Amino acid sequence: MEDILELIFKRRSIRIYDRKKLDKETITKLMQAAMAAPSGSNSRPWEFVVVTDEEALDKMRSKLKYGNYNAPAAVVVCGNIAIAQNESATRYWVQDCSAATQNLLLAAAGLGLGTCWVASYPKEDVMAMLRGILEIPEEVFPLNVIFVGYPAEEKAPRTQYDESRVHWEKYTN
Ligand SMILES: Cc1cc2nc3c(=O)[nH]c(=O)nc-3n(C[C@H](O)[C@H](O)[C@H](O)COP(=O)(O)O)c2cc1C
Repeated sequence: MEDILELIFKRRSIRIYDRKKLDKETITKLMQAAMAAPSGSNSRPWEFVVVTDEEALDKMRSKLKYGNYNAPAAVVVCGNIAIAQNESATRYWVQDCSAATQNLLLAAAGLGLGTCWVASYPKEDVMAMLRGILEIPEEVFPLNVIFVGYPAEEKAPRTQYDESRVHWEKYTN
């Protein structure tokens, strides 16, 4: 395992991918990482639609204004209050599913994969498009589309540390 900070700095949005496919075992590891995330009262309101079918991917790419990326797979992270363990999800499903997403992104970086988070919720048109292509029911909210695959572009690891954003003890400091 790499140093956790190195891994965090290494994760960058990758928008150009190799055509090499991902195996099911690798995708399952990403799902395990996602579902290890914290959630309000451990409500776990998440579901994931893994898309590797080229036709479906093409349809999604052609409709995503900021997501026409050639990755061999995409994971649509969804919030579903009805399957959550408790009511906490009503308030916190976005945060819960975002935490799961970040786990997925970091696990992918650790496995040498690239990812890019493409926005869906709260864009009604994008959610409707994803629901249509992937047969996601109305009560399930597609939060994002995470493209994933082997990177074909290099991006330098980095932090965007800015000390002026850190207030020690009191905001006015
Ligand atoms: C909520 C959210 C929505 C995003 N939506 C898009 C998107 O629609 N298309 C895209 O190419 N990148 C998208 N990104 C990726 C950001 O552009 C990217 O994280 C940011 O520029 C910082 O670059 P880095 O990921 O390489 O650190 C999104 C990221 C987040 C967290």
